[in-house]
Amino acid sequence: MNDNPFYIVGFMGTGKSTLFSFLKEYGEVIDLDLVIESMTGMEIATYFDRYGESAFRDVESKVLQQVTADYILTGGGVVERSENICWMRERGTMIHLNLPFDMCWERIKDSARPLVKRGREDVHALFQRRDQLYRKASVSIDASQSPEDIAKQIIRIKGEKV
Ligand code: S3P
Repeated sequence: MNDNPFYIVGFMGTGKSTLFSFLKEYGEVIDLDLVIESMTGMEIATYFDRYGESAFRDVESKVLQQVTADYILTGGGVVERSENICWMRERGTMIHLNLPFDMCWERIKDSARPLVKRGREDVHALFQRRDQLYRKASVSIDASQSPEDIAKQIIRIKGEKV
């Protein structure tokens, strides 16, 4: 069933995790961050505080290569490691949720995400740097639509590809 997993990528706040309940009607869905939290036994913010970002990226890459499902919701930084981009492109299909920075920031600024603590300017720089990495995705979807419409679009593309 999941011989072509769809990896949903995009910056923090683009609505990846929100798609869980919409996509699950159509296939198996995995939220990578939730798998990481259950494997490490702690929240991602706590893991970052204790072991740092690089250790988190190690775990993230490992988990990415261990899981499979029809739809895999990734964390925004999964593209930080080029090996992850190669993995997602070779193993399945990378789908990018695209949203302007200001909209992402409004959604994430009061959240407990560890990178948000760095402040708007730094997060904006991160957004700009990652933009070219997200562009390695096969498809880019306008994430300003409702989650329901985004999910419908993803399901339609999957139907065309499988
Ligand atoms: C991160 C995004 C987060 C989470 C971690 C690091 C990032 O996931 O994986 O805080 O580097 O962009 P979301 O994109 O679901 O917020």
